Amino acid sequence: MPSALITGGHAGIGYSCARHLASHYKWDLVLAGRSPRRMQQVAGELHRDFGIKVTNLHLDTSSLKSVREAAAHVARLRHNGQIGGLDAVLCNAGGRFDGPIAYSADGHELTFATNCLGHFLLVNLLQDIIEDDGRFVFTASGTHDPDTADGKMVGAVVEPDAKALASIGKAGTASVSAGKRYSTSKLCNILNAYELHRRLRASGRSVSSIAFDPGSVPGTGFLRGMPVAVQWLSKTALLRWIFKRRGITMGSLDFSGASLARLAADPGFADASGKYYQSNNGTLAETRSSTLSYDEARAAKLWAQMEELAGLHPNDDCNQQDDRREAGRSSG
Ligand SMILES: NC(=O)c1ccc[n+]([C@@H]2O[C@H](COP(=O)([O-])OP(=O)(O)OC[C@H]3O[C@@H](n4cnc5c(N)ncnc54)[C@H](OP(=O)(O)O)[C@@H]3O)[C@@H](O)[C@H]2O)c1
Repeated sequence: MPSALITGGHAGIGYSCARHLASHYKWDLVLAGRSPRRMQQVAGELHRDFGIKVTNLHLDTSSLKSVREAAAHVARLRHNGQIGGLDAVLCNAGGRFDGPIAYSADGHELTFATNCLGHFLLVNLLQDIIEDDGRFVFTASGTHDPDTADGKMVGAVVEPDAKALASIGKAGTASVSAGKRYSTSKLCNILNAYELHRRLRASGRSVSSIAFDPGSVPGTGFLRGMPVAVQWLSKTALLRWIFKRRGITMGSLDFSGASLARLAADPGFADASGKYYQSNNGTLAETRSSTLSYDEARAAKLWAQMEELAGLHPNDDCNQQDDRREAGRSSG
């Protein structure tokens, strides 16, 4: 049975996607997240409603150690036949972190660590496990493009320099708003999706790497760090009407979740690699992303910096990590 791993598949757009993958495609699922109680509940519900197999995987995308452990766990599950082929990895978890700047356990700015660096490492570690025609899908956001209404709403992105982004707010650095930290993390996800596509093709692999913007989706936990009044306002028909008139990309829980599921599983998207898709007003369509996102030199530099930050070694994969861990245990 095909299966998909979804980060943050127990809530919001990820949960909607999980239900679509289960109901429409009958795929088994690996829910990867850091909220075991809610994940347990969702796994039970998906199994009961659709008869699929659901495996829960502990993963905190902001922690490199947690990502490495999760990837090694997936390798074991696959090796032991506890999951079938891994056909899609959906890098969906993420958020915008308002309030004082916070840092991950590794000391990296939290938005960058959660939305971007953790997924970068996860995808790299799962490259040798994903099926040959499998798909990596990176959830981005229209806010990454400063030339659009979405981008203007949060403020222009800053330079996608991984080392600078990881250090935002530390002594001697310029302050960057939560909105810009968020949109820049999403720009990095698109740059990485395109760079991964080029690398996969250069190595002769047929795995896909796709970027996705779900559009503005009310009713998820996305605005949880914002004042209650803003959260309330975001769900009103009036604000949706204003957004639509201003040209904001408009998603919905059901349509955006279904769109993510289609990008993961639908044969109609078999040639979607290296492209950016937006769900907008009930249509899922290939769209041009920002001018900056097509800058191959920037993407290559970002990738190299991220490899360094993630401590990724050439030929690093989670099977080897498992071997190293075993060797460590037996020697010590
Ligand atoms: N809603 C929108 O308008 C909108 C627009 C454009 C893009 N997006 C993107 O769509 C994706 C899904 O967002 P959403 O709107 O569905 O928000 P959501 O309801 O808050 O869902 C976010 C999911 O990410 C998980 N998550 C957050 N930090 C994590 C971490 N460190 N490790 C593991 N999981 C973590 C959350 O898990 P917990 O329950 O444990 O926190 C939750 O399952 C995000 O990448 C977001 O940036 C959303």
